[in-house]
Amino acid sequence: MNAKEISLEEKAVKPVVDHLNDLLANYHIHYQKLRGCHWNVKGQSFFTLHVKFEELYTAALTTIDELAERILTLGKPPYSTFKDYIGTSTLKEIQTIGLKDTDMVKAIIEDMATLIEMERELLEITDKAGDDGTNDMVNRFMQFKEKNTWMLRSFVNED
Ligand SMILES: [Fe+2]
Repeated sequence: MNAKEISLEEKAVKPVVDHLNDLLANYHIHYQKLRGCHWNVKGQSFFTLHVKFEELYTAALTTIDELAERILTLGKPPYSTFKDYIGTSTLKEIQTIGLKDTDMVKAIIEDMATLIEMERELLEITDKAGDDGTNDMVNRFMQFKEKNTWMLRSFVNED
């Protein structure tokens, strides 16, 4: 850890780093789920959802890199193996081959709800650690998913 190099207290930052690594692992599962949906979606909404899933996995990829590099900035190595991702993630993999298009959207909404919950927890932890940088970054990720949750729920007609 070298949080002190950026005027943060190591002990306070440790839970931030641990939670960032958890979020990173979950994001990898979410990312691959989006790719599966992008590849395997079928039906009348193909052109809409194929593009939407691509938009979302592209955003997830950027998020993954920002999370990993924030962990490094705070002085620890990020998880970087699939073994770690699968072992750590709360989100579970799903089979997207043959999955109905609306069920794909519902699976992504569920993922986002879990990720948002984790991010809210991280916002509290970063607040306690005085880590405004991580707080600001995670807040951005959360707002992106909050908005997309609304759009995806509108797509499947859920209030
Ligand atoms: Fe593609």
